Amino acid sequence: MINILGINAYHADASACIIKDGKLIFAVEEERLNRVKHWAGFPVESINACLDSAGLQLQDVDFIAFNSNPYTNLAKKIYYVLKRQRSLQFIKSRVKNTRTRLNAESDFDKHFPGIDVKSKFKKIEHHQAHLASAYYASDFDQACVLSIDGFGDFSSAAWGYAQANEINIGHYVNYPHSLGIFYQAITQYLGFKHYGDEYKVMGMAAYGNPVYVEQLQHLCIYNRSGHYELDLDYFLHHTNESTYGFDSGQPVCSDFFSFKLVEYLGPARNPTDPIEQHHKDLACSAQVVYERAFFNLCNRLYDQYQSDNLALAGGCAMNSLANGGISKQTPFKQVYIQAAAGDAGGAVGAAFSVAIDQGVDRNSLTMPHAYWGPAFSDQDYQRCIETYSKDFKQADCDIRHIENTDELCLEVASAINSGLVIGWFQGAVEWGPRALGNRSILADPRREDMQDILNLKIKRRESFRPFAPSILIDQVADWFEQDTEVPFMGQVFMIKENKRKLIPAVTHVDGSGRLQTVSQQSNDLYYKLITKFFELTSVPILLNTSFNENEPIVCRPQEAIECFLRTKMDYLVLGNNIISRAEQE
Ligand SMILES: [Fe+2]
Repeated sequence: MINILGINAYHADASACIIKDGKLIFAVEEERLNRVKHWAGFPVESINACLDSAGLQLQDVDFIAFNSNPYTNLAKKIYYVLKRQRSLQFIKSRVKNTRTRLNAESDFDKHFPGIDVKSKFKKIEHHQAHLASAYYASDFDQACVLSIDGFGDFSSAAWGYAQANEINIGHYVNYPHSLGIFYQAITQYLGFKHYGDEYKVMGMAAYGNPVYVEQLQHLCIYNRSGHYELDLDYFLHHTNESTYGFDSGQPVCSDFFSFKLVEYLGPARNPTDPIEQHHKDLACSAQVVYERAFFNLCNRLYDQYQSDNLALAGGCAMNSLANGGISKQTPFKQVYIQAAAGDAGGAVGAAFSVAIDQGVDRNSLTMPHAYWGPAFSDQDYQRCIETYSKDFKQADCDIRHIENTDELCLEVASAINSGLVIGWFQGAVEWGPRALGNRSILADPRREDMQDILNLKIKRRESFRPFAPSILIDQVADWFEQDTEVPFMGQVFMIKENKRKLIPAVTHVDGSGRLQTVSQQSNDLYYKLITKFFELTSVPILLNTSFNENEPIVCRPQEAIECFLRTKMDYLVLGNNIISRAEQE
């Protein structure tokens, strides 16, 4: 049977996955292992982790699949550069990035010296990989497919129709037009300069009014075919002035908005400036403009192929606010959004594309859960606890082992009920950017003051960013206005009006919640824990935020312990081991 290594390299969120004997068995983002957020280099640690988990040597791998094919649209790229007479520096930087991706094969010689790699290398076009990562991972037998992002292989979107084993792409939006760039430029204008900061604008949008919609609409015009175009005068990403690189591993972009945008909207916010109402209004307006183009595209896609199913991927598929509106704003009835909808997921998409080409049964590729990363044994936990025994003593911690999971969950649910904050570390690391109950910090959603407590004890994050609710799948209809499975926090729904006051810590200012539905099949232990909390409180919901403190989500037990010791978390639960801190004032 066939073994395939899938790789996202030299894009943000570098990652790798492994298909062994025709089955996906492991996937992880490099940032979880090397601890550099959004790492964009060559994912050597992820590749090693894939091989280890599969019990394979590199020589056993039949195919190595990349989610980029720099030869795609090559003529268009050359024509674009010649026509626009771009500077030597602009051309050099683009050629450098392209050459790095083209040479990814030789990186194996560098990182695995002395190994004769016999695998066949396959380069899968960026959006083909995004679409494959969503469609083949879903259980749809046919679906409309849509990929939207900043850019990949000279395109920013692709859509079409998939049936059985085939994905047919009917449309592309090509460089330099991009909804992802539109959102990123506004994010930068609002003073959020780090790669991936768009979620802050999403959080802020609920505090604003859409007063700048008509102004911003001029920047991004959509048409009846579903396509859209930017007014390029307001953007720099296509000019000699723009830079994008990842020399230190972290993706770094220059500002993508032009001076004309500053003339049009007023001075851009500096990162240290206070956030004022007009910033919130701009965030809200940008979200509306994004959604108009997004829903227009979704509706045209439906008109063309008339499928009730939508498989969605690409960096913009992380816009959970827009995704939450799909069922109201479009005729689609079922939506599948990859757990790693962004570029990390491309590793899986590239591997899936090759697997399907090689005759692998697509039923062995579905991803009903997100727990594909490294996992640890109780022995690992015990060893780690022993290593940190002095620190635990110093911090006046109590350590217990509770073998019975019912008792463990009851103990933890009771602690949450009494207002404590829990670091919950279980099973395999989540694939994708969300903590989904295996590397999570958990707390009581009923407490008005829990957002402040969490920010004080651990997170120190902006007050406008909401915390998410994890809810038992069979209770969604009672608490949310839409009764849909959302296993990977990919959609924001409105919380029922009469319930909002009961769960203030996970209710956003507009009454919405970025929910995670939890089923017994997807995560038995987490389901059990929430059930215990439900039995104690009549609320089938826990506040769930990622287990980290201004760093990538913790991966190994030692990172969880260090995060616990560094912060003021009350409990750390490592498998069946509870480490509790003496009561704090
Ligand atoms: Fe992408």
